[in-house]
Amino acid sequence: MDTHEEDKLAPIDCDAAFSEYYTDPLTRDVFLRKLFDETAHHYDHINRVLSFGSGSWYRRRELLEAGLRPGMSVLDVAIGTGLVARQAILITGEPSAVVGLDLSAGMLAEVRRGLGRQMTLIRADAEQLPLADGGFHLVSMGYALRHVANLNAALREFHRVLKPGGRLLILEIGRPSSRVALALARAYLARIVPWLSGWTTGSKPARTLMRYYWDTIEHCIAPESILAAIRAAGFEHAQCGVEWDLFRAYLGKKSCNGADLR
Ligand SMILES: C[S@@+](CC[C@H](N)C(=O)[O-])C[C@H]1O[C@@H](n2cnc3c(N)ncnc32)[C@H](O)[C@@H]1O
Repeated sequence: MDTHEEDKLAPIDCDAAFSEYYTDPLTRDVFLRKLFDETAHHYDHINRVLSFGSGSWYRRRELLEAGLRPGMSVLDVAIGTGLVARQAILITGEPSAVVGLDLSAGMLAEVRRGLGRQMTLIRADAEQLPLADGGFHLVSMGYALRHVANLNAALREFHRVLKPGGRLLILEIGRPSSRVALALARAYLARIVPWLSGWTTGSKPARTLMRYYWDTIEHCIAPESILAAIRAAGFEHAQCGVEWDLFRAYLGKKSCNGADLR
C-alpha cells in the first residue's frame, strides 16, 4: 500500500462530470493512456491551434524565469511530444542533461522521432520516479498536473529527485476567476478548440482530448490548494504567476539543506 495513502490529493474533483470518460481509478488510467497514445501524433498541431503558435516561446520564457541556465540538468515530467524539453535543451545547451519522462508510449515515440537520440527518455509514472535522489537542478511539468492521481505523491517525488537548491516549475491552465475571462475561456477552450482539433486532424480522440482538457481545467482544485501541496512536499518560496487570468506557472525551490527536510 502507498505509505502516503492518507494524504492523497486528487488534483481534480473526480466526482464531477467525468462519468462520460471513466467510472473509477482503473478505467481512468486506461482512458488516459489510450487518449494520450492515440493523440500523440496530433499533439503538436493541436498545441499550435490552442496557443496560436506561442507555446514554444512561452515555455522557454518560463524555464528562464524559473532559473534554468546553461550547464544545468533537467527532468521534464510528462514530456509529451517534448515541447518543454526542446526549450530546456536550447537553454542548457546539453541534450544529455535533459531527461524526459512520460506514461504514454505514443508520446515517447513522438519525442524519440525528434529528440530521442540526444536525450534519455523514461516511461514511468510521475508519482513513482525510477530515479536516484538529488540528481537534477530543475524539475519541470507542463500541463499534466491535472492528470496525476495523487498530487502529493508526485510533488514529493519531484522534491526527492532535485538537488539541494533545485527549482520546480509547473505550467498549467487554471480556471479563470473573473466571469468575463471564464466565459471567454469556456467559449474558446470548451467549444472552438475541441471542434477545430477534431476537424483539422480528422481524429475523434483529438476532439475528446481537448474536451477532456477543458473539463479537467473546470474541475481542477484551486491554485491555493496546489501551492499548499507544493509547500507540504517540502518546497520553499512556493509561488504562482498568473497571466490573462488563465496561464499559471507554479514555482518552488528545494532548500539548500533540502536533504534534511525529509
Ligand atoms: C497535455 S500533455 C503535456 C505535454 C507537454 N509537457 C507540454 O508541455 O505540452 C500531458 C502529458 O502528461 C502525460 N501524463 C499523464 N499522466 C501522467 C503521469 N501520471 N505520469 C507521467 N506522465 C503523465 C501524458 O501521457 C501526456 O503526455
